[in-house]
Amino acid sequence: MHSPVILAIESSCDDTSAAVMAGGEILANVVATQQVHEQYGGVVPELASRAHQQHLIPVVQEALRRAKVDKSALDAVAFTQGPGLLGSLLVGSMFAKTFAQALDKPLIAVNHMRAHILAHFIRAPRPAFPFLCLTVSGGHTQLVIVRSPMDMQVIGQTIDDAAGEAFDKTAKLLGLPYPGGPHLDKQAKLGNPTRFSFPVGAMPGYDFSFSGLKTSVLYFLRQQTAQNPDFVAENLADLCASIQHTIIQTLLRQLVRAAEDNGLTQIALAGGVAANSGLRAALTALTAEKGWEVFIPDFEFCTDNAGMVAMTAHFQYENGDFASPLVSPDPRLKLT
Ligand code: KG4
Ligand code: ZN
Repeated sequence: MHSPVILAIESSCDDTSAAVMAGGEILANVVATQQVHEQYGGVVPELASRAHQQHLIPVVQEALRRAKVDKSALDAVAFTQGPGLLGSLLVGSMFAKTFAQALDKPLIAVNHMRAHILAHFIRAPRPAFPFLCLTVSGGHTQLVIVRSPMDMQVIGQTIDDAAGEAFDKTAKLLGLPYPGGPHLDKQAKLGNPTRFSFPVGAMPGYDFSFSGLKTSVLYFLRQQTAQNPDFVAENLADLCASIQHTIIQTLLRQLVRAAEDNGLTQIALAGGVAANSGLRAALTALTAEKGWEVFIPDFEFCTDNAGMVAMTAHFQYENGDFASPLVSPDPRLKLT
């Protein structure tokens, strides 16, 4: 059996990453996270593209070095085609196309959302098909029925903000540094999740809405700080715990409905927000109660990384799914 050696590039947002996989086994996964955005409280697309240009070649060299693989041994070069920021995607795709052409190797174009889901196959335990995946990141919130690596159906998604944005935007209102998700998580551990109540975005079907939460937190804080300027500082942990609780309830309510309606008992969590300790604990408790099985990848493979792109490219290689050298990045690339 042929064991393809694949170099994968991820550059859809603000992490520059390269990974090497051989026969489905991960040999290296190098990520350079861009610090430049912190001072702006959000990702600045122009700065992201420039930082990708600076980081990409060293990151690729480091991945090949750690994997102890010479570029001549590669069987394919994979890259994230979308969705993501156009300028960022262009840097990764231009590099991958040029590199593949120079080596005379095939090119594989990967969907970033598919890659977040297939991150579950990098290491055991792996979910069995079909399973339900909740992908929650800074840019996306999706419920997907996964029937095979290439057969995925998006059954629900956010109509406004992503779950990660809900964490980051509310954290910003509380004065926490960017990205706020991990800071809010840390504070929430010390607080009371039912002290304050915020609206759970009620959507028909399996969709999500988080913009109402942000607005209600904003008005609530304005009202409270008008009476007590130290309100946030005095109640930070309870505010974080209550906001986190609301986001988790919003996510889990739709997840349960989707799993029950579709008879799915294998539940997977993907994307950067899968790092949230409250979400992990709540999902683990919920699935134990229902007798379902839950799968959460290692943190390294939850946030943006090229390892998941390499895993996806491995499946595509097996299916003979190669890209034309003329392929373009697509910032709005759809999963189904
Ligand atoms: O998947 P990811 O690395 O990048 C995107 O594709 O968006 O996800 C980043 C998002 C950010 O919004 C970040 O605040 C959030 O994941 N995040 C968290 C935690 N760790 C990362 N949100 C809540 N709790 C965390 N522990
Ligand atoms: Zn992502």
